[in-house]
Amino acid sequence: MPQLTKAKEVQSKIQTVKTIIEPFRIKSVEPIYFNTVQERKEILEKACFNPFLIHANDVLIDLLTDSGTSAMSSQQWAGIMQGDESYAGSPSFYHFEETVQRITGMPFIIPTHQGRASEKILFSILGGKGKYFLSNTLFDTTRANIEYTGAEGIDLICDEGKHPTIPAPFKGNINTKALEKKIAELGAENIPLCIITITNNSGGGQPVSMNNIVETKKICQKNNIPLFLDACRFAENAYFIKLREEGYAEVPVSEIVKELFSYADGCTMSAKKDAFANIGGFLAFHDEKLAQQSRNLLIITEGFPTYGGLAGRDLEAIAIGLNEIMDEHYLQYRIRSIEYLTHKLIAAGVPVMQPAGGHAVYIDAKGFLPHIPVSQYPGQALVGAIYVEGGIRSVEIGSLMFGKYDSTGNLIPAPLELVRLAIPRRVYTQSHIDYVAEVIIEVFQNRNSINGLEITEESPMLRHFTAKLKPVNSD
Ligand code: F0G
Repeated sequence: MPQLTKAKEVQSKIQTVKTIIEPFRIKSVEPIYFNTVQERKEILEKACFNPFLIHANDVLIDLLTDSGTSAMSSQQWAGIMQGDESYAGSPSFYHFEETVQRITGMPFIIPTHQGRASEKILFSILGGKGKYFLSNTLFDTTRANIEYTGAEGIDLICDEGKHPTIPAPFKGNINTKALEKKIAELGAENIPLCIITITNNSGGGQPVSMNNIVETKKICQKNNIPLFLDACRFAENAYFIKLREEGYAEVPVSEIVKELFSYADGCTMSAKKDAFANIGGFLAFHDEKLAQQSRNLLIITEGFPTYGGLAGRDLEAIAIGLNEIMDEHYLQYRIRSIEYLTHKLIAAGVPVMQPAGGHAVYIDAKGFLPHIPVSQYPGQALVGAIYVEGGIRSVEIGSLMFGKYDSTGNLIPAPLELVRLAIPRRVYTQSHIDYVAEVIIEVFQNRNSINGLEITEESPMLRHFTAKLKPVNSD
């Protein structure tokens, strides 16, 4: 892939030859609780083979999510103390608002308690039966919030994004040809907006190129469709653009971020990712009418517009985190640490999504467990095996999360069966990551002993959070 070779050249210019170190010191620590393989077997069974039902104290290394799990900085903790808890007009809100306005270039900023609260408000206003939302890949809560209104979400990922182990620099891109075709087929008047997820979480944490966003904007503009960003991991995406896209190697990340947002009419954001906050989110708009409609719903569901669903202290932590995330020493370390684990697994023959994503390593469960059919949820089976072997908690992003049933009750599988090892920000050190690699390699060596699973209980929406499963033929 010539583009990726070019990316490597750029990367080597940016990196020094020395080890890239964690760009922080540790002031406060939390204990890890140890348990045995036998204990974990029993815990997993009790949790009905669902990692969301395992108690966190029964987990050694928690890679379930990078959301809300960041270590906050001393500056953020200082901001927590300074947070102003006034119901209306808190200075913490104005600090937050000014920061988000500066980063996004958008004038209307609405705080929410997390990303999905932003989605709920946005899609309640724009959704409804007969409407379509087009995306590179919608995250599960985004899709659920769209579908809850009766509208339909449509993923149009580029061809490279469909092949987990074939490397390409921007596998998160939307397929712009397919986008144009879909708009013509469905009618622009039925498409309230297009939404590009940066980075593309459900598609392997893969970035979207600036060029792809520019092209998408042109198509949207031509059809009078607003373009939104699901901006949860905007800084990681911007750093990939710096590393891999022609013309950006010398551009500061803050400028790349500014350019990214300049093509968007609005965004949804979970501050639990690229704002180093434990809770929070926002909506940002250029459109005043949409902002006013959102505020009306915000007051009913979240709170007054100068705090949304948050405490003043949370608004401070987010404002400070949004500035810290664009530190290029941090981003270099962040992207490198995901790549480090990815390369260790590749060297041992473990099939993983390539190249490394921004916040997580994605194992290709179909390639890892070819003996387990998709109807027996190979990703979920692998999540269980990794937990039992080493106490590492991961999450399936495959047919348990995204599978549907046809009219005869047969599973319509997800396009990919992935297991995500999401790395919390500034939390684990290199030796933790080395341990993770050792455990997964051991599971890989013993992969033939892993059995498939069947569902015994499930809910109609977002079933992966609460589903109960058991090994096939275990009665
Ligand atoms: N969009 C994307 C791309 C996400 O990754 C998430 C959350 C959301 C929206 C919703 O944000 O959790 O604050 O309500 N992703 C988490 C994860 C849960 O584990 O990837 P939220």
